Amino acid sequence: MGLLKGSSILLGITGSVAAYKSIELIKRLREEEACVKVIMTEASKNFITPLSVELASGDSVYSDMFRSPLSHVSLPANADLFVIAPATANIIGKYANGIADDLLSTALMAFNGKVLIAPAMNWRMYENPAFQKNLHYLESIGVKTIGPEKGSLACGEEGIGRMADADKIIDSIKASLTAQDLAGESVLVTAGPTREYIDPIRYISNRSSGKMGYAIARVAKRRGADVTLISGPVSIKPPDGVDIINVDTSDEMYKAVMNNINMSSIFIMSAAVADFRAAGMKAEKIEKKEGFSLNLTKTTDILEETGRLEKRPFIVGFSAETGYRVDRAKGKLVAKNIDMIVFNDVAKEGSGFDTDTNEVTIISRDKSGKIQELPLQVMSKEDVASAILDRVAEAKKGC
Ligand code: CTP
Repeated sequence: MGLLKGSSILLGITGSVAAYKSIELIKRLREEEACVKVIMTEASKNFITPLSVELASGDSVYSDMFRSPLSHVSLPANADLFVIAPATANIIGKYANGIADDLLSTALMAFNGKVLIAPAMNWRMYENPAFQKNLHYLESIGVKTIGPEKGSLACGEEGIGRMADADKIIDSIKASLTAQDLAGESVLVTAGPTREYIDPIRYISNRSSGKMGYAIARVAKRRGADVTLISGPVSIKPPDGVDIINVDTSDEMYKAVMNNINMSSIFIMSAAVADFRAAGMKAEKIEKKEGFSLNLTKTTDILEETGRLEKRPFIVGFSAETGYRVDRAKGKLVAKNIDMIVFNDVAKEGSGFDTDTNEVTIISRDKSGKIQELPLQVMSKEDVASAILDRVAEAKKGC
């Protein structure tokens, strides 16, 4: 089930050029089946019309306190999260100093739940000490902020002040609505394929989009963990707030894992490491001939090496098989001396490479060491990531 399904988001739009981006944000929230109510300030109506906001949200826009009496109390009372995007220096100043002189600022004062703000303004305003003081004060009372980012600003200048894009705001909204049960954990995740070079141009690799590992990193971050993601070459964006280490070959991945595993409490090896490399990479491009034979040697089994460490984190491996070969996955759990393995049949529809869904069986040990299986229905890779992290958190509690 989508994380935002059924949640009530109260969105405040204030007078910044970035106000037009709120339309995309509202659409995305509704796609995720959230209920969105919108309060617009008078200034914001210079940048977008209430009609376009109403069309996006499928509901009336609120902005006049006296037209809808008590809306400053009833709107916040029904909200799970109050989001201000874009948030100008003015609303941040009013909120920090307890000023309530229109519907949005009054509703903010009447709200005692979680608030997320996405500041947007000129860089000089952003760096102004008075504004920074207000922002720090709000952060000190638990208000979450997302952005702003550096880039070209509406005034034509370059600097910090661009509102975070919809993807990042949605991620922050999800984090704000998620229990921080992994706070204090350091999660190390590997994702994507590795490349083993035959010559400077050609390589051997495995099929992998990296989507499963990136989903694990994103969900672990959302649940409050510190996350380091070691990624082979993929074409997806890393989740916000995650430390990313880009690698190419299995050797680079091995070194990156070994350099970081001591600082981790949970290690999840979801990368599709190439099992073989060419014995002796050629420094020059191999010329095309009728054909040639290639000598292959095995790459280091990274997971197996981590399973041998004396002091080691909770270790999770993956076992991609063609066919329902759960026993093979169980064999790897034992042979590699790890704590959990996630089996998936990549030949099955809705499972495996390049898809946004996966169907897995989570294999772990109970307190007595007996191996247990938890088969899951086909679900989004984010939901699979949540299920894996749920099991890890549960198993760690029992340790
Ligand atoms: N793995 C690894 N290093 C390798 C190969 C695999 O760390 N050189 C890890 C994978 O990331 C995965 C687990 O080992 O978490 C199982 O990988 P898989 O390819 O399913 O199995 P293998 O052990 O490589 O064995 P086989 O290819 O025979 O199935």
